Amino acid sequence: MRLSKLTASLVAAASICLAAGAASASGGEAVLKDEHFSFEGLFGTYDKAAAQRGFQVYQESCSSCHSMSLVAIRNLGDPGAPFYDEEHPNPNESPVIKAIADMFTVTDGPDSEGDMFERSAKPFDHFPSPFANEQAARASNGGAFPPDFSVLVRAREHGPQYIYSLLTSYEDEAPEGVDMRPGMNYNPAFKGGMIGMPPPLFDELVEYSDGTQASVEQMAHDVVTFMAWASDPKMEQRKRMGWMVMIYLFIFALLMYGSYKAVWRDVEH
Ligand code: HEC
Repeated sequence: MRLSKLTASLVAAASICLAAGAASASGGEAVLKDEHFSFEGLFGTYDKAAAQRGFQVYQESCSSCHSMSLVAIRNLGDPGAPFYDEEHPNPNESPVIKAIADMFTVTDGPDSEGDMFERSAKPFDHFPSPFANEQAARASNGGAFPPDFSVLVRAREHGPQYIYSLLTSYEDEAPEGVDMRPGMNYNPAFKGGMIGMPPPLFDELVEYSDGTQASVEQMAHDVVTFMAWASDPKMEQRKRMGWMVMIYLFIFALLMYGSYKAVWRDVEH
């Protein structure tokens, strides 16, 4: 009796698994690529050159639709950041950060007349948003909202792989049987296969100053590295601290064992 109950529940469990598998294979589930990044694992750090190139990709493509409003321009020069300069540990005084700030225009005000005005950005300013508000963003994007990048890599499951896949998986034609709504693009990495964002990357879209070939895959890898840093700027510090604590605890344990042996040396126990 017991055995048959067990068999029955095993059969039930197996059929549930099979059904779930079939459901995910029949469409709707996102298909991700297994891209490897330098910042993964216990020892991983951000590839600074990739993050710098990624900033360029963000600037020249993504920033026309996506904001990154939690990040200040000066953060780019913080320790562990893509443009950290040992000679100028204070990013407010770094010539690179000042030059980057000059690339941005921000709205400030109101002035003494009560009017808002535009000025070139300073290191303390946050990245300016391309749209005044969510409604304006949706109106320009066929109703879809381009999410803010500040913490997007951490906010999505398998963030780096997901965003890399999304950027490299666009297909011109939807497979047969997929009914595309107007203004939508087919992308199997997006849940449901249809996304409101047009393909943002094309080969040679940017020209890298370090001579790296700007293929779609390369730009996707670089911009994800940059976005990962923005989502978790203290990662390197945290990992370093973790290792220091482990080493400290190891030495402490050795010392405790040594003193235990010394204290009880002449005692029968
Ligand atoms: C022309 C405007 C436009 C540009 C340029 C653009 N995006 Fe988007 N993006 C959108 C819109 C609109 C959505 C929302 C799509 C939807 O919900 O269907 C979106 C969604 C996304 C998402 C999906 C977020 C989620 O909710 O899972 C990611 C990731 C993303 N964009 C990354 C990028 C990157 C990286 C770049 C630059 C290489 C970029 N986008 C450039 C308009 C844009």
